[in-house]
Amino acid sequence: MAVLGLGYVGCVTAACLARLGHRVMGVDRDEFKVRSVLAGEAPFYEPGLAQIVRETVTAGRLSASTSIAEGLAETDVVLICVGTPSAKNGNLGLEQLGRVVEELAGLLGERSRPLTIAVRSTVYPGTCEEIVMAPLSGYRQVSVVSNPEFLREGTAVKDFMEPSLLVVGGVDTEAAKRVAGLYASLPVEPCLVSLRTAELIKYACNAYHAVKIAFANEIGTLAANLGIDGSEVMETLCRDTELNISAAYLKPGFAFGGSCLPKDLRALVYRASRLDLKLPLLEAVLPSNERHLERALQILMELPARRLGFFGLAFKENTDDLRESPVVALLEQLIGKGRTVRVFDSQIVPERIYGSNQRYLLAAIPHIGKLFDSSLEQMLAWADYVVIAQKPSSECARLIAESGLPVMDLVSTIPSPQPVVEPTGA
Ligand SMILES: NC(=O)c1ccc[n+]([C@@H]2O[C@H](COP(=O)([O-])OP(=O)(O)OC[C@H]3O[C@@H](n4cnc5c(N)ncnc54)[C@H](O)[C@@H]3O)[C@@H](O)[C@H]2O)c1
Repeated sequence: MAVLGLGYVGCVTAACLARLGHRVMGVDRDEFKVRSVLAGEAPFYEPGLAQIVRETVTAGRLSASTSIAEGLAETDVVLICVGTPSAKNGNLGLEQLGRVVEELAGLLGERSRPLTIAVRSTVYPGTCEEIVMAPLSGYRQVSVVSNPEFLREGTAVKDFMEPSLLVVGGVDTEAAKRVAGLYASLPVEPCLVSLRTAELIKYACNAYHAVKIAFANEIGTLAANLGIDGSEVMETLCRDTELNISAAYLKPGFAFGGSCLPKDLRALVYRASRLDLKLPLLEAVLPSNERHLERALQILMELPARRLGFFGLAFKENTDDLRESPVVALLEQLIGKGRTVRVFDSQIVPERIYGSNQRYLLAAIPHIGKLFDSSLEQMLAWADYVVIAQKPSSECARLIAESGLPVMDLVSTIPSPQPVVEPTGA
């Protein structure tokens, strides 16, 4: 196979794939990098890399060239690892990728052998289609997949050999499996996903890591200002592998609410402000949640529906706690904008609501009692569109499906009126 680009990602990829037993040619326009590899040396410092380059070059499995034509001659798979640096305005620089694809296109005219191209560089969703597939669309023998790289400089060799994640995405599933097969001897199960998921996952991972670091630093700062050991706080937080260090709360869906999260976040941010502390990440969480609610409102306002039947009123299933329920806020807005709605929630009987629940609900929707249906069947018989605002039991899900009504599921999908993809950000 050929690895195009012998930078931090490309050189580690080329050397480690050679270590796994593949015959690899690394290609770079930078003569110094090519000469280094041919001399059995790593072109930059990365722990463990020099030894692998030396061993694999000596064994004849790793070679290098400045010529893409030479790299392409003997191979069925090309891994693109060129740089995608930031432009001045923060946009992604796709010049190196565009140029490499142009060069490849110029070499494919004579070729009839199939070629799989895997893009390992970090690129926006849609880039493989726009910058790689479109210029190569005339070459039927070419398949393009996205195979993002997750290694970290400083531990890149270890990250390659013991991957935390292996992702390959593409329309051509055979090509995706072929690329996943290159890593078959590594201890990881490949995730075969759609092309754009593969492109976005790399950004999602890096954004998540950055958010985790900023979160730990903000909690640590607050702790330090309160004379508390922030490391002890975060270490204790990490001991909870059910709710904290787990997949819990990591599914895109509806806005959060309830009697704890909004209240406690407000209190934390207020306490920090009294200490003259700015905690921008934590301060942004409630506004982010409100924006999410506004988007749901906008989507619901645009539905071709006259009678919206809501499934669920409390902020989650199996509770009758209505305090700070985002569904109540959504209904208040919809009613205010003239929409006709009715509600069914199996845990809520309007006559039995009292105390802080009642105060919260009546302040938002004074005539809420008149909007309740006592059974799901009754609500479904009235509605011409169902809004799922709470996870339904399997029985309720069955009844909703059997009603044949159109459904807007706010809980398990994020509705989008028109998906937008602008890979180049131009
Ligand atoms: N560095 C990391 O830790 C890391 C981790 C994961 C993903 N990534 C992503 O991987 C990609 C590569 O990152 P990097 O740090 O290895 O970049 P880099 O700048 O170190 O290496 C890119 C290499 O591509 C070569 N190149 C560019 N155009 C070429 C062409 N037409 N022909 C031949 N060679 C060409 C350059 O000379 C350079 O050596 C980027 O998209 C980056 O975002 C980087």
